[in-house]
Amino acid sequence: MTFARITGTGSYLPERVLSNADLEKMVDTSDEWITTRTGIRERRIAANGETTGDLAFHAATRALEAAGVKASELDAIVLGTTTPDLIFPSTACLLQSRLGANGCMAFDVNAACCGFMYALGIADKFIRAGQTKKALVVGSETLSRMTDWTDRNTCVLFGDGAGAVVLEADKEPGVLTTLLHADGGYADLLYNPVGVSKGFKEDGRHGNTIMMEGNKVFRVAVRALERLVDETIAAANMHADNVDWLIPHQANLRIIRATAERLQLPMDRVVITVDKHGNTSSGSVPLALDELIRTGKVQRGQNLLLEAFGGGFTWSSAMIRY
Ligand code: UT7
Repeated sequence: MTFARITGTGSYLPERVLSNADLEKMVDTSDEWITTRTGIRERRIAANGETTGDLAFHAATRALEAAGVKASELDAIVLGTTTPDLIFPSTACLLQSRLGANGCMAFDVNAACCGFMYALGIADKFIRAGQTKKALVVGSETLSRMTDWTDRNTCVLFGDGAGAVVLEADKEPGVLTTLLHADGGYADLLYNPVGVSKGFKEDGRHGNTIMMEGNKVFRVAVRALERLVDETIAAANMHADNVDWLIPHQANLRIIRATAERLQLPMDRVVITVDKHGNTSSGSVPLALDELIRTGKVQRGQNLLLEAFGGGFTWSSAMIRY
């Protein structure tokens, strides 16, 4: 049996830090409100001209270096994003060219905040099927480009960043299971109203910024993630106490705590980056994973539970033996 193993991780954050104090000067909010309701203290914002592809390139370069894999050895690049550099070619194709990995399969996945998790699930299946030996999986976003900086309901939440992993075929696990879910019935609770075939050239009622009914999203997210972690543990033939680390999507510390409680996992086994990164959508889980791995705290053989929830709604998870 062939498994996909993570052999290297990397991440990248833009230099500019936007603190809660900075936001207090922009909208009617307070550090106290943002910290209490979300756990966010600061987030990074891409420089003018710095794109999702740029962030992805730096994260990917670091992941390849950590894995000791040359870009020319890759058979696949799968990149999760909702903020691509261009409508087409895909950011994955632009990244492929910059890395010098030309010839291999390369495509983007849009699953909102689950973009990286969906990309991971897809790459895992290609490796298990024997069609791919070395895959680069990336989550990269510049959400700041579609944030309404006058809307306090949303602008305090998001940030820019990217993370990447190299997956390699191996006889040992590896990715044990991935679960990908969606329910488009919730589309109107979290969306951007502008696309290509809708709203592209119109002066619409809304701008081309993120629209969210945060409170409703919160309630569905908590319930969906509780069900998802139970489902993931069962799919991996495990018990909750087999989970060594939770690497959650970093949208809100209160949502993360609820998931950890469901797993009865102490918070020192939960990776928290939301305080420094805010919600970086597809960048969030691979950024947190890279942070955990680079601290050296995680041991080979430990079980990592990754999960995410986002617009669509989409929700997704992976159980990984590191
Ligand atoms: O990653 C994709 C998935 N996204 C999520 O998972 C996000 C899920 N939702 C959330 O994280 C939370 O719902 C939010 C952080 C967005 C909001 O927290 P909440 O506790 O659900 O607050 P709320 O929306 O119920 O708003 C409570 C109050 C409202 O005032 P009133 O109506 O009670 O007078 C808001 O107007 O807080 C007000 N408010 C703010 N006040 C100060 C909303 N945003 C702000 C703000 N600063 N930035």
